[in-house]
Amino acid sequence: MDIDPSRLVQPDRVHKRVYTDPAIYELEMDRLFGRAWLYVGHESQVPKPGDYFTTRLGREPMVMLRHTDGSVQVLYNRCAHKGARIVPEGSGSVGKFMRCLYHGWAYHCDGTLLSVPLRSGYEDTALDLQAPQFSVRKAARVASYRGFVFASLAADGPDLETFLGGVATSLDNFCDRAPDGEVEVAGGVQRVIQRNNWKIFFENLHDTLHAVATHESSWRAAKEEYESMPPGTPKPFEIVIVDGNGEPLEFWEKLELKGYDRGHGYMEGIFTPPTDPVSLAYVAALKDKQGEARADQILRVNRHNTIVYPSCSPHTSFQQIRVIRPLAVDRTLVEIFTFRLKGAPDATFQRALKYTNVVNSPSSNVMPDDLEAYNRVQEGLGSDGGDWVSLHRAAGREQPIEGGRASNGNSEMPMRNMFQAWAGYMRDAGEAS
Ligand code: FES
Ligand SMILES: [Fe+2]
Repeated sequence: MDIDPSRLVQPDRVHKRVYTDPAIYELEMDRLFGRAWLYVGHESQVPKPGDYFTTRLGREPMVMLRHTDGSVQVLYNRCAHKGARIVPEGSGSVGKFMRCLYHGWAYHCDGTLLSVPLRSGYEDTALDLQAPQFSVRKAARVASYRGFVFASLAADGPDLETFLGGVATSLDNFCDRAPDGEVEVAGGVQRVIQRNNWKIFFENLHDTLHAVATHESSWRAAKEEYESMPPGTPKPFEIVIVDGNGEPLEFWEKLELKGYDRGHGYMEGIFTPPTDPVSLAYVAALKDKQGEARADQILRVNRHNTIVYPSCSPHTSFQQIRVIRPLAVDRTLVEIFTFRLKGAPDATFQRALKYTNVVNSPSSNVMPDDLEAYNRVQEGLGSDGGDWVSLHRAAGREQPIEGGRASNGNSEMPMRNMFQAWAGYMRDAGEAS
């Protein structure tokens, strides 16, 4: 099929086929997910040799595994014998080596073949036990940035730090906020399957205009709940977070959006310095370890959702990463991991969990609003009611910054920025990775 992305993506609008056409989805798997650095998981998910965590990179089933030499490996979850998945879905430990359940081929934790049953049967055959094609295939490239493990399925392309560009600072701040400078995944994973194309979710991350309309039922309920409390009651954290969506459009307009090359970006300036006891105890712990000046510098980084295109969204202030895994042109799995800041009081972690539960979990009061909107978009785009999707808001008003562009909070710049990167990946297999 001949797909010319320049005809589907224009500076201020995109054709509906980018969200609905299964052939374009397959091309995305090859040209975008098959080449970009994709978030795999965090090193703390595989603390001991033999520990594993299964996931998908694009359409490929993969496993992140701690090798006996301490390195983190990312392998295709496929036996070299007849192709069975070796490691069961989820996480756990394989012990000292992996053993396929079908015929018992065994592999070291870096994927190299350890042994096969009935070895004599292979004598004088073309099967070479030392040859790479009889080991489990590794992801072409694997790299870690401060414990966050990424992999690329393509052998060529920029290194991870170059790829991350302007959003590497979000991962830095994620870790710097820990008094001990490190984070770890804790509290399991929450999963949401969305009935929409993966790009609709990414676009929503910096879509400030939707908050007051889409979330009216939850922010109104939160405001009414607070008004029913005795006067002078400190506003509970849950209410602060949920009623924030009811801020007027002037509030969102004042925020700053940054869009970086390769589709990345973040939103800045949303949170006011908190004065509640949980936050104050955390700030005290950070100052105690890092000193007053350094702690102030760390806390001044005030970011809401960061976009690491096209695979994840770290939230530095409330320690979560949402991982976006496309399943089909109209199905997307979002996995939500919450992190513990090492050296911080336990209440800080409980607060991060609360944020995840209140805003992003499958049972939150906020997330279902978004899911309903995404689903309606996907259904509407499948109709004959029109061909184009508007990205016009504040088009042409962005300001250049190093490695990208900046705009006010109500601009659709982040969507235009992501589609610019998308078109670059899709144009051919050799550009923009
Ligand atoms: S398929 Fe794995 S050992 Fe045969
Ligand atoms: Fe929302």
